[in-house]
Amino acid sequence: MKIAAVSDIHVQPNGADAPLIEAIRKQAEAMTPDIFVIAGDVSNRIDTLRASLAELKLEHAANLYVPGNHDIWFEEDKGIGSLEKYSRLIGEACHDAGFHYLPDEPYVRERLGFVGSMGWADYSFARPELKIPEENYRRKEYRGATWFDVFNVDWDFTDEEATDLFNRKLEYDLSTLPKQVRHIVYVSHHLPFRELTVYKNRLPWDFFSAYMGSVKTGQILLRDGRVILSISGHSHIRNVVTVNGITAITVPLGYGRPRNHDYEALAQKAVAEIEITEGVVDLRQFVTGDICEGMPYVVAR
Ligand SMILES: [Fe+2]
Ligand SMILES: [Fe+2]
Repeated sequence: MKIAAVSDIHVQPNGADAPLIEAIRKQAEAMTPDIFVIAGDVSNRIDTLRASLAELKLEHAANLYVPGNHDIWFEEDKGIGSLEKYSRLIGEACHDAGFHYLPDEPYVRERLGFVGSMGWADYSFARPELKIPEENYRRKEYRGATWFDVFNVDWDFTDEEATDLFNRKLEYDLSTLPKQVRHIVYVSHHLPFRELTVYKNRLPWDFFSAYMGSVKTGQILLRDGRVILSISGHSHIRNVVTVNGITAITVPLGYGRPRNHDYEALAQKAVAEIEITEGVVDLRQFVTGDICEGMPYVVAR
């Protein structure tokens, strides 16, 4: 079973990213995957998300999506909120574009199950040695640096409540997979393992690391025993770790765009190729690090 995966394309709403999207689709298509996974953060605008997914969709693969935190940013001009986006509108957009929305229902192909969630962060990745008060994490602000979800996510859940909801749904999905499923791939936006987080020993970077994911999510995956691979986004530094037999990767593109408009080269680095044979995970094409390093950032928020 071959999987192509990417996340965090952060599509510009003005059409400027059309050649990048085309390059990503072509790169993924050339891998002739059975499954194409996109792990969130395509756009904070539902119309751009829908149109981008329609362009990214592969004809001869199952196309799977989980949203990212940017995808659920509320849109004041349209009067739509974060919970409405997560629970209804993004699912509809996926359906329109030919993508399977994993938060609604896992996807099963032969003996491999794909379980997906946006996931969330409960500050369990925070660095206690920084001695930053809990209140700052809740407020999402520390010494003038702000985590932008605080202005853009309008549901009433605390971060701990949201993380708990997603974790409980993950446990439910795992417990209701058909019996034929021997191995499981977990697809999420937020990170299930602290080990995937890259700390830099500087602020505000290490403060923001608290918003990367939840230790409890990884514990659920480890307890299950069938999970062999985890594919996430959110952290814009690509990483791979192995945790008790689970291969965990992050596959983001990021905010950068090449000055020389060489979108093919960027797409080549961005799309990971993974082969699974009888429960063994082989990363056939996978670039680590920040693939946008040195590139100018497009405005993403
Ligand atoms: Fe992102
Ligand atoms: Fe994100």
